Amino acid sequence: MIGGRILHGGDYNPEQWLEYPEILEEDIQLMKKAQVNCVTLGIFSWAMLEPKEGVYDFQWLEEIVDRLGREGIQVILATPSGAMPHWLTEKYPEVMQVQEDGTKNLPGKRQNFCYTSPVMRQKIQSLDRALSQKFGKKENVVLWHISNELGGNFGDSTCHCEQCQRAFREWLKKRYQTLDNLNKAWWGRFWSHVYTDWDQIHSPAPQGEYTMTGLKLDWRRFATEQMSDFVAGEIQAVRTASDLPVTTNFMYFFKGLDYHRLRDELDVISWDNYPFWHKRKDEVTVAMRTAASHSLMRSMKKKPFLLMESTPSMVSWREVNPSKLPGMHMLSSMQALAHGSDSVLYFQWRKSRGSFEKFHGAVVGHKNGSNTRTFREVTQVGERLMGLTDLLDGTVNQPKVAMIFDWENWWALEDVSGPRTDMNYVDSIFLYYQPFWEAGIDVDLVGMDDSLEGYQLVLAPFNYMYKEGYAGKVRDYVRGGGVYVTTYFSGLVDETDLCFLGHHPLEDVLGVVQEEIDAPCEEFPNTFSYQGVQYPAGGLREVIHAKEGTQVLSVYEEDYVKGMPVLTKNAYGEGSAYYLAAEPELNFLRRFTEDLLEELALANPLGVKLPHGVTVSLRIREDQCQSFVFVMNFNNEPAKVEGIGSWTDAETGEICQGMLELGPFQCRIFES
Ligand code: GAL
Repeated sequence: MIGGRILHGGDYNPEQWLEYPEILEEDIQLMKKAQVNCVTLGIFSWAMLEPKEGVYDFQWLEEIVDRLGREGIQVILATPSGAMPHWLTEKYPEVMQVQEDGTKNLPGKRQNFCYTSPVMRQKIQSLDRALSQKFGKKENVVLWHISNELGGNFGDSTCHCEQCQRAFREWLKKRYQTLDNLNKAWWGRFWSHVYTDWDQIHSPAPQGEYTMTGLKLDWRRFATEQMSDFVAGEIQAVRTASDLPVTTNFMYFFKGLDYHRLRDELDVISWDNYPFWHKRKDEVTVAMRTAASHSLMRSMKKKPFLLMESTPSMVSWREVNPSKLPGMHMLSSMQALAHGSDSVLYFQWRKSRGSFEKFHGAVVGHKNGSNTRTFREVTQVGERLMGLTDLLDGTVNQPKVAMIFDWENWWALEDVSGPRTDMNYVDSIFLYYQPFWEAGIDVDLVGMDDSLEGYQLVLAPFNYMYKEGYAGKVRDYVRGGGVYVTTYFSGLVDETDLCFLGHHPLEDVLGVVQEEIDAPCEEFPNTFSYQGVQYPAGGLREVIHAKEGTQVLSVYEEDYVKGMPVLTKNAYGEGSAYYLAAEPELNFLRRFTEDLLEELALANPLGVKLPHGVTVSLRIREDQCQSFVFVMNFNNEPAKVEGIGSWTDAETGEICQGMLELGPFQCRIFES
């Protein structure tokens, strides 16, 4: 835990209120009332920290940091590269991002700078060094927050300026050494796209090259590299006079940046979570997706992460912005903890008075101070977190199930022309994740480069690309006793999007031969039966045959594929591999998951079937001697969990036996 606390607080922008001393004073009083123990300062403060080029004004910030320190409030200090001051863009227009169609952005907005620009890097790093010297050793400063939501400027997050084009070519030279290697990797003879000079290479653009998938993949890798390198430069700068840990705030499943690369630069993973609660009355889909997102962040370093931003009430950027209903703020905060967060932090502490985000939810509004439902619910969360700190310190989630989620696979898969244009990797991940969430089984989401050690079950839906070394790792995993589940449209291409020839790289392990893939239209349905129940075969249907010794668990029931395998199981070494040839529906996956869990003797900690909308997650003390079971009811009505044995409530000491009655949106935490 950072500073030995579960952090409670969030983004605080006092620079907007320097002319309102009474507001700044009220902030401190209200923070204490709301049990706030940490705020993030300086995220968008560049113009106030460096009002003129090379002229720093840190006095206002120091006064606030020190005042917070006297009140026992810790500070996460941000570097302000998220938004640029006007003097910078005016004097050095080359810091502005250029869009993929060549349009140069104008000053304003945020996260729209060029990650390559030497001027941008130099200016921000000088400021970072000065911040480090001034604040790096302050007792109540506990963490560096580098920039803000890198790449998050809505739409294409990369810069296509001439500096970036040149850097891209240099990056390609290092990767491929010769143009011949590059042309082969990108299959350049197709449509006569052979490059004969490095300068002929340009970033992908709608009015230019948009069809060469190898180029597009490498551009995304390059952009990730530039952003990671930009962050690395800032980290080096803040380390001038400080050895505090560093983080940067991630966003959900953000396609523009491979977080599995960026994580290597960071000590702590943090992310900003804004689920669309109350979009529907049934919260299951949103709750499940949010759990998967927390799990993705936790799996990055297999340690607790920080929930860096969340709204205490509503956001302001959706078409409609519902407030969290009573109880949801507590539940969603507990959900973050349940899946591995060591904080509940908000955007934002106080609503700004003007400009874009003045109606975004905040702990403190424009009126009424602490006399609002939001403030009261935030205070309840703060009080509960104080009680949980000692209990959860040193605990982690240790799932036995992992799912492969890999950015490069995502990029490659969704750039493919055919067999369908609506292939959505993240939605597929959620589809396979949901039955586990419903069963109360936590799942890690890991990349292809991650270790599979310690997992009893690994799922790899839609695993189109196989990175180098991946097939070998899976083979060893299954040989050693692991159970591996993969699907249609997997193992088709290598890292440069070139198709494997001859065999699927895991044909021996899977025990099936992929013949062809079909994407029939709606009026040509097909079905398969599993454990006596018939299920539809979806819009992607692979035609496969089983090799000798492979068990066929289900077959197509119609058309020219009738009798051909849909689901197979192959014993390999000490383990086994399942192959699913047709896109399934959730109901099939529910049944199939149930069987997998039974085969592996995996059950949720309560050991019972959970009612709709109720799930559990487990944090275990690292020495394994104590664990905490979060039981969460995402229904806005009571729910009963029956047959649960005897449990002690970790917060109240109350014994709960046989049946647990949960109130609407309630979360109970049991210890064992
Ligand atoms: C985040 C961002 C914050 C704030 C928030 C509003 O993406 O980091 O600065 O804009 O969204 O929901």
